[in-house]
Amino acid sequence: TSQPFSKQTPQETRNWIVEVCKQIIQDMDRYGVCVIDNLLGEARGTAILKEVQMMYSTGAFTDGQLVKGANNTEGPSASQLIRGDKITWVDGREPNCRNIAVLMKLLDNLVIGANSIVNSGKLGGYSIRERSKAMVACYPGSGTHYVKHVDNPNDDGRCVTAIYYLNKDWNSKETGGLLRIFPEGWSHQVADIDPLFDRVIFFWSDRRNPHEVQPAFKTRYAITLWYFDSNAKEKAKSAETNS
Ligand code: OGA
Ligand code: OGA
Ligand code: MN
Repeated sequence: TSQPFSKQTPQETRNWIVEVCKQIIQDMDRYGVCVIDNLLGEARGTAILKEVQMMYSTGAFTDGQLVKGANNTEGPSASQLIRGDKITWVDGREPNCRNIAVLMKLLDNLVIGANSIVNSGKLGGYSIRERSKAMVACYPGSGTHYVKHVDNPNDDGRCVTAIYYLNKDWNSKETGGLLRIFPEGWSHQVADIDPLFDRVIFFWSDRRNPHEVQPAFKTRYAITLWYFDSNAKEKAKSAETNS
């Protein structure tokens, strides 16, 4: 079936997408962060997890890289002190990523859909038509983490980060691995997000949302997409070619 949700008709799926788009618009405007649970359902989520586990077991993953300028310590293990995840990039056309491709299409529908149905508010201030490939990340336990950082500190064009989690029976109290966000303007409150199976989080990629992945003591999988603001991306590109 081409439907992401096995129990719904196409019409029900369309209605659901519109409802989720509205939720995204509202929460991003209010908080700069939006969490949606039970995105795809048990069967599709499990199929995605299997694709990720298969890729991981075949050795497709390498050390996560640092954003330009973030690495100011020296030595071979410097990057691992900052981020301990293993990653691989997927564009959705690979043969063994068909379910990941369904996730990517749905997230596109939600983010680009939300952006195109608002004409005011913060999401309406962007023009979202492109995104990165999917970054599939594994924190392989043993206290691996990602220190507090901003995804897009220097206006590289990314405006929304979307992270889909794949971790069944995750208990942060026992095995850590929380995503902690320190939203600017929340007066020292933080948002602690459990990386739960079939959960997606959206947040502004810029300096409004510093965040960290706390040490994980069990294998922790996530898939991240970054959405670009067309205007900001053009500016970032011309700044690069002019420098
Ligand atoms: C990242 C990141 C958060 C998470 O990869 O930039 O912050 O919860 N990931 O996996
Ligand atoms: C705040 C705020 C949102 C929340 O504290 O200013 O926006 O979900 N909190 O706790
Ligand atoms: Mn990040």
